[in-house]
Amino acid sequence: MEFLELVRQRQSVRKYTDRPISRGLIDKCIEAARLAPSANNSQPWSFIIIDDETQKNQLCDRAFSGVYQSNLFVKKAPVVIVVLTEPKQIAARIGGWFRNVEYHRIDVGIACEHLILQAEELGIGTCWLGWFNEKAVKKTLELPGSAKVDIIISMGYPADDRIREKKRKTLNEVRKYL
Ligand SMILES: Cc1cc2nc3c(=O)[nH]c(=O)nc-3n(C[C@H](O)[C@H](O)[C@H](O)COP(=O)(O)O)c2cc1C
Repeated sequence: MEFLELVRQRQSVRKYTDRPISRGLIDKCIEAARLAPSANNSQPWSFIIIDDETQKNQLCDRAFSGVYQSNLFVKKAPVVIVVLTEPKQIAARIGGWFRNVEYHRIDVGIACEHLILQAEELGIGTCWLGWFNEKAVKKTLELPGSAKVDIIISMGYPADDRIREKKRKTLNEVRKYL
């Protein structure tokens, strides 16, 4: 598929079928993320895959309760990926501090989009999730208090094949040639 076609076709999927996703395909998506570029090649990420029904339900019940319950649809996704942001590399941190840019967050964003576009190419739907109880996620996964979880990704085969119209700014609004 032409790349731009893939990008046009990708959309947030919030309704999934029960069809499981094989670990081989999940690994292919993680491989795409692994190969992403990052500031000073610091690769400040790792991915926790939750594909066990009981563990996923427990995580979702805790992560998406109270003010976060709009994202409870994730419980129906066969796979949930918790993305850890790990800004451990000193050179990248100093560079980021000097420039006042959080490079590690840019890096994780790139890696996640690689993952998501690879999933799309495999016919697997995804949704970025930034609205969740981070403390509850860390407690459930027994992560240290210092761990940072900025993004979760839900994955599953879409229950609906229709591609919605994209609501985006126009090319003229976002592009300026000098
Ligand atoms: C960083 C980030 C966080 C997001 N968080 C959520 C979320 O918590 N829940 C949700 O349903 N969608 C979430 N989204 C999906 C956006 O709402 C969606 O990408 C946007 O509305 C454009 O729609 P599309 O993905 O279908 O093209 C998030 C997207 C990004 C990039």
